[in-house]
Amino acid sequence: MRTRVQFPPSPLHSQTLTTPTLTLTGIQPTGELHLGNYAGAIRPLARLAARPAGETHVFVADLHALNGRPDPDQLRDRTRKMAAALLACGLDHDRVHVYRQSRVPAVAQITALLSNVTGKGTLNRAHAYKALVAANTAAGRDPDHGVNMGLFTYPVLKAADILAMRADEVPVGADQAQHLEIAVELARAFARAYRAGVLQEPRAVVPQAGGVLPGLDGRKMSKSYGNTIPLFAPPEQQAKLVRRIVTDSRGPQDPKDPDTSTLVALLDAFADPAAAHEVRGRYRAGGIGYGEVKALLADQLRTTLAPLRDRYEALLADADRLDAALQAGERHADRRATETLRLMSAAMGL
Ligand code: TRP
Repeated sequence: MRTRVQFPPSPLHSQTLTTPTLTLTGIQPTGELHLGNYAGAIRPLARLAARPAGETHVFVADLHALNGRPDPDQLRDRTRKMAAALLACGLDHDRVHVYRQSRVPAVAQITALLSNVTGKGTLNRAHAYKALVAANTAAGRDPDHGVNMGLFTYPVLKAADILAMRADEVPVGADQAQHLEIAVELARAFARAYRAGVLQEPRAVVPQAGGVLPGLDGRKMSKSYGNTIPLFAPPEQQAKLVRRIVTDSRGPQDPKDPDTSTLVALLDAFADPAAAHEVRGRYRAGGIGYGEVKALLADQLRTTLAPLRDRYEALLADADRLDAALQAGERHADRRATETLRLMSAAMGL
């Protein structure tokens, strides 16, 4: 059992060594997950969460998704699938709490409170908003064309996600570093305006560089390039996509550089290490053809991913089990967020 965090922590020791680390991250319910999402984000998170101490919060950021005005049925479906995928990919033990952001209403309430210590100028400078304004200006449109307040205040909701849970560490890519800075800025602004020690300043942790996973055409695997292999597609479909991976014209006997090969990169990420190592050796020596490597890769994907796919499908087929798992995460998250909300409200005079 985890020892309860002393609360409120002393402002000078908001990060005591006796408090187990709380790691938190959110994932937007985008469409179908692919191998790159798994190798680059979900697996590193599952490994982090497997540490023997501390706890991990992972939520599906369905409130954040709303600013893109997704179709409601599609959002519901994608939220369930993302939650099932997280649970299926190893984030399903008792030190991980998986929840739907919208099911923890205190997060939205904290957003409303935080907006009063958020300078509009801070949000004007947020990268995503600035990029849109720049694009609008370049196209001769009104600078705020197509900008809703969900998008404009996105960093405040994100700060609320983090501050509500009194998270210690937030694994983020470089593209999200600014959001963490804003979360810290708002925690400080709250401390200055109201009370220190209520909100804890989070730390950004840059996840260990797993390298970029290449897609079918050798560029980074990404939905926007249309070069992905879906994580949960049936093995036959994955094998078909593997056969489409672009290779050069070297024949089986030619020596090849394993370090520039998409096939080897995928083997490194998904195959049994001994098998990947052997292929690397045969690349350098010559004597292995791309057809053989593709067959091996498809086979390794089948073996490595079968347990994940089975768990994912079982969860989606059993709505009660999936709901029960999420509700447990939501109860836990709600307790923490409600406590933060209570302390904030009291400090603010509500
Ligand atoms: N990373 C996602 C995003 O910025 C999802 C997200 C929402 C998130 N809230 C978060 C990540 C809080 C880390 C912490 O769109």
